[in-house]
Amino acid sequence: MIKVAVVGVNHIGKLHCRFYNENPDAQLVAICDLNKELVEKVAANYGVPSYSDLTVMLKSEEIDVVSVATGGFENGSHHYGPAMLAMKYGKDVLVEKPISNNISEAKEMVDYARKQKIRLACNLNHRFVPTAYIAKEWIEKGDLGTLLFINMKLTIENPNETSPWIHMRALHPHSIDVMRYFCGDVRRVQAFMTKAPGRTVWSTASINMEFESGAVGHLTGSYDMDNRHPIEFCEVAGTKGRFTINDVYNELTFYPHKSQELKMYKNSVLSGINGFNETFKHRLDTFIQEIKKGVSPKNITGSGVDALAAQEVIEAIIYSQIENGKVIDLKDISEIGKQLQ
Ligand SMILES: NC(=O)c1ccc[n+]([C@@H]2O[C@H](COP(=O)([O-])OP(=O)(O)OC[C@H]3O[C@@H](n4cnc5c(N)ncnc54)[C@H](O)[C@@H]3O)[C@@H](O)[C@H]2O)c1
Repeated sequence: MIKVAVVGVNHIGKLHCRFYNENPDAQLVAICDLNKELVEKVAANYGVPSYSDLTVMLKSEEIDVVSVATGGFENGSHHYGPAMLAMKYGKDVLVEKPISNNISEAKEMVDYARKQKIRLACNLNHRFVPTAYIAKEWIEKGDLGTLLFINMKLTIENPNETSPWIHMRALHPHSIDVMRYFCGDVRRVQAFMTKAPGRTVWSTASINMEFESGAVGHLTGSYDMDNRHPIEFCEVAGTKGRFTINDVYNELTFYPHKSQELKMYKNSVLSGINGFNETFKHRLDTFIQEIKKGVSPKNITGSGVDALAAQEVIEAIIYSQIENGKVIDLKDISEIGKQLQ
C-alpha cells in the first residue's frame, strides 16, 4: 500500500484526496493546508490527521508520496516550497501544473529530483486518457507515417487578470504537454497574442511551432471562451493518415489516407470517463501504479522533466510576444528565462 499525503486541499487538492482515497493501492494518510479550518474539515471527511505545517507532517507521519496541490501567483508560485521540502525528506512527489510559474525554480526542482533519484511527476492530466493512449500507440506503430503537422486548441473561460501571462503560464502546460507527447521536443516558436475587449491580460493567443523532428504545429489558446462547450481539440497528421481528438477524452477518429474507412472511438463506448475530473483519477492512478511497479525516476510518465520542458516552451512563447512576434529558438531558453524572471 502506497501511503500518500496531500498538501493544499482546496478545489484541486480535494480531488487529489478523493482519487487517492478511491485507489485500492493507495492510502491517504494525512493532509496539510495553511488554512486550518479548511484542512480540519477535509481531514474529517477522510478520517486522517490534518496539519498546517508540512515539516511537522513529514516528521510525524509515515509517507511515501506527497501530492502538491497548492496554487499561488499564476497558479504555480506556491508549489516549489512544499515540493522541495518533501523531496528533501526523500518522498516521491506529484505536483500540480504549472510545475512552477518561475522557470529557475522549476529547473531547480527537476535537478534536485534527478540528484536525489526521486520520482517527480506533474499533473499533466490531459494526456492520461484512453483517447491519447490509443493515438500515441498509432503514432508509435507507424500508422500515421512520418508526422507532418499538429493543430491544437485549448480554450476556456477564465476572467483572471492577475498577470499579463496568466493565460500562457497557467493553462498551456496542458496543451503544450499534449503536443510534446505526440510530436516530441519543440525547436522554435512564434507567437501573436490579443486582449479580448475589456481585458488587460494577453487572453487569446495564436502560436506557431516547429518540432525537432521537422514536423510543424499550431496552438490556439484562449481564456475568453465558454466552459459549457468543448474545451480542447487536437489533430495530428502524417504521411499515412491523421487523427483528431475531440474534447480531451470524448472522441478519437483516425482518417487513414487512401481508404474509405474511418476508425472512431467514443468515450461512452471506449472508457466511460465520467466528466473532466476523472482525468485526474487516470493521472493519479498512473503515478501510483508506476511507483508500485518500481518504475525508475527517469521513466515516470508526465514527469517533472516533461513539465519543465512545457514551461520552457511557454517562456519562449512569451518572449516571442514581447519581441513583437519574433521566432524564438528553444536552444536560447536559459538566456530568455533569465530575462523574463
Ligand atoms: N490539472 C488540472 O486540470 C488543474 C485544473 C485546475 C487547477 N489546477 C491547479 O491546481 C492547483 C490548485 O488549484 P486550486 O484552485 O485548488 O488553488 P487554491 O489557491 O484554491 O488552493 C490552494 C490551497 O493550497 C494551500 N497552500 C498554499 N501554500 C501552502 C503550503 N505551503 N502548505 C500547505 N498548504 C498551502 C492554500 O491554503 C489553499 O487552500 C493550481 O496549481 C492550479 O493550477 C490544475
